Amino acid sequence: MSDKIKVALVGIGNCFSGLIQGIEYYKQNPSQEVTGIIHDKLAGYGIHDIDFVCGFDVAENKVGIPLMNAIYESPNMVNWIPKDKMPKTDAKIYESPILDGVGIWVENKINPLTSTKTDEQLAEEAKKVLKETGAEIIVSYLPVGSDKVTQFWAQVCLDTGIAFVNCIPSFIASDETWAKKFQDKNIPCIGDDIKGQVGATIVHRTLAKLCSDRGTKIEKTYQINVGGNTDFLNMKEQDRLVSKRISKTESVQSQLKERLDDDQIYVGPSDFIPFLGNTKLMFMRIEGRQWANIPYNMEVRLEVDDKANSAGIVVDAIRLARIALDRGVGGPIKPASAYLMKHPIEQTSDVKAKAACEDFVAGK
Ligand SMILES: NC(=O)c1ccc[n+]([C@@H]2O[C@H](COP(=O)([O-])OP(=O)(O)OC[C@H]3O[C@@H](n4cnc5c(N)ncnc54)[C@H](O)[C@@H]3O)[C@@H](O)[C@H]2O)c1
Repeated sequence: MSDKIKVALVGIGNCFSGLIQGIEYYKQNPSQEVTGIIHDKLAGYGIHDIDFVCGFDVAENKVGIPLMNAIYESPNMVNWIPKDKMPKTDAKIYESPILDGVGIWVENKINPLTSTKTDEQLAEEAKKVLKETGAEIIVSYLPVGSDKVTQFWAQVCLDTGIAFVNCIPSFIASDETWAKKFQDKNIPCIGDDIKGQVGATIVHRTLAKLCSDRGTKIEKTYQINVGGNTDFLNMKEQDRLVSKRISKTESVQSQLKERLDDDQIYVGPSDFIPFLGNTKLMFMRIEGRQWANIPYNMEVRLEVDDKANSAGIVVDAIRLARIALDRGVGGPIKPASAYLMKHPIEQTSDVKAKAACEDFVAGK
């Protein structure tokens, strides 16, 4: 394997734009401390060891052009590094099948191309590109609700021996059947649904665990999220949200000593407010009882740039996938999935998950 970590991307939206521009930001500002990753080096791999070798999308303005241009195409809105200051690379965007990737609210923003190719032809073309570019890991940042497209790319991984990092709540690494397929072929898989650095889920689950560990009785809790990018616009379509709600809700429920009844917990994306752009707002409330049945409550408002929030975590996921490849470890990578993802195959506390991740990196 080469010294570089060769990564293929699926879904060239705002998240990848932030991930790639962030890496370039650190290249252009070498004195800046890298924030948002576990350690500068993980088993020798730093952030500049990642090489994005190709990408796949369906948008007519992204397919066929260089990756470094596609990340600036509409409706992407991350602009941390001027486009003309980005390096030129050979990586290009190729066609992915549309399947269930494009929701009704975002269709006229994405403008998917009209394909003349069957899904089978696209799979064969993709495998050829992946081979030619030497891709070792596929990272998927597809829109919420893209279950079929996610399965398409998971199958491509299984057919080609490429590791899979699944950043969205379409269950692969946490699904027993898919996990077994990756296990049987000894291909690493990290997922599902990336957990932000300091995002709504980790803040909510940490505070819920605190209340539970301190012996209070949580009676009800909610977490409402709003934002103004295509991710939030897409999530207006309730039918696409089923697994997102499961992923976010279970992430909180898993931290409680006593599960809450389904009607006493609400966790989910709630609305699209266009002028917020990539700013995401989270409003969280926990209500419970203390000594002598006396009530208490807390409220939190979190404001984050949604794209800065997930990029560092994906950088770690990519490096952990490569470490697994280096060591011949396959199947769902449990420590990495538990630490970095909202819906791993095995939930644990974030403290334990981080320790397990450190042990994994140390080869214990
Ligand atoms: N903090 C975070 O940002 C965070 C956390 C967890 C999960 N996520 C998830 O990451 C995903 C990506 O978020 P984003 O803001 O980049 O979304 P986005 O809407 O900006 O980008 C999605 C991209 O996927 C492309 N696409 C649509 N259908 C496709 C298909 N069939 N094949 C290939 N590409 C296709 C679109 O053209 C677009 O370029 C979302 O599902 C989001 O919920 C983000």
